[in-house]
Amino acid sequence: DQGQRQRLLDAHKAAAEFYVEQLLTPRAQEGRRFLSDRGFTRADAERFGVGFAPPGWEALTTHLRKKGFSDKEIILAGLASQGRRGPYDKFRNRLVWPVREVTGEVVGFGARKLDPEDDGPKYLNTQETPIFKKSHLLYGLDLAKRDISRERQAVVVEGYTDVMACHLSGVTTAVATCGTSFGEEHLKILRRMLLGRSEFGGEVVFTFDGDAAGQKAALRAFAEEHGFVTETFVAVQPDGLDPCDLRLKHGEAAVRDLVATKRPLYEFAIRSEIANHNLDTYEGRIAAFEAAAPIVAGIRNEGIRKFYGVSLDKWVGLMDESYVLRRVDELA
Ligand code: GTP
Ligand code: MN
Ligand code: MN
Ligand code: MN
Ligand code: MN
Repeated sequence: DQGQRQRLLDAHKAAAEFYVEQLLTPRAQEGRRFLSDRGFTRADAERFGVGFAPPGWEALTTHLRKKGFSDKEIILAGLASQGRRGPYDKFRNRLVWPVREVTGEVVGFGARKLDPEDDGPKYLNTQETPIFKKSHLLYGLDLAKRDISRERQAVVVEGYTDVMACHLSGVTTAVATCGTSFGEEHLKILRRMLLGRSEFGGEVVFTFDGDAAGQKAALRAFAEEHGFVTETFVAVQPDGLDPCDLRLKHGEAAVRDLVATKRPLYEFAIRSEIANHNLDTYEGRIAAFEAAAPIVAGIRNEGIRKFYGVSLDKWVGLMDESYVLRRVDELA
């Protein structure tokens, strides 16, 4: 209900403030080092609300109790877990990024491990709670929302540090999923912002670190979206650097330039498949074609499917357009 929801939001507001204060304490030194190693200043951290979850088991829990929150509320919020002897802090000795609704309300956290010896995954996110639904949340959307509508472009990056690096570099339309793959709900949310009241226009640019997992997820999300296929792009840095590393090594102009290297999603996916094969031999070209054909066959829109069929023929060098189109239709 509304009352409970407000309590969970209040708990997150208090937690976010607590974590920010903790980042200034001596025990947060590793956290501050992590940020400066990645080229983020204290002001950058403040702008994004980055904080520090102290080590130990009940720093935040104790703080929230003092603020009047019950153990039940703290656990329901996902800020603590129920142990045998009571609740214990969910995030310990980690750098934390507040995840916000478009409205700006903090609803959860992404938290990075600082000591490799510690338990748990490198990034730990808030679990599903009444206010944290990760299939519906995009990190940075509160900051990017206005420019996404205005520029009619959304840039999807992989991580929290990538969103920071993009925004600091002037790519203010960047958002990231919170430790989950990009799905249909994310797409719907972006589409609403991109399209406004018109039916066409607006593009989504994915930046992946070059691995296939991200691409496949994006293709899946877009397979259902007939009309939107042509407005989806992929931008990949040749040496596979993510925007955070790119900014660190090559500067902010390089981050802005990355977006300009965008290729249509389907072209990118098809060419990645082809690149796994040796096109010097006829057998290799056939193998490349057979590997890439299912991607083309998966395109719902007939015109676009044909366009990529013709392109596929050209890219693998089969020089047999009618065979290619027939084979693609067989698979479709
Ligand atoms: P560092 O530079 O080492 O911090 O990594 P990164 O910021 O480049 O992150 P990476 O490319 O490894 O991951 C990008 C995003 O994927 C992160 O921001 C997380 O949202 C998510 N992610 C990475 N590792 C994990 C994990 O172990 N568990 C979960 N749930 N998500 C993860
Ligand atoms: Mn800057
Ligand atoms: Mn990856
Ligand atoms: Mn990365
Ligand atoms: Mn990184």
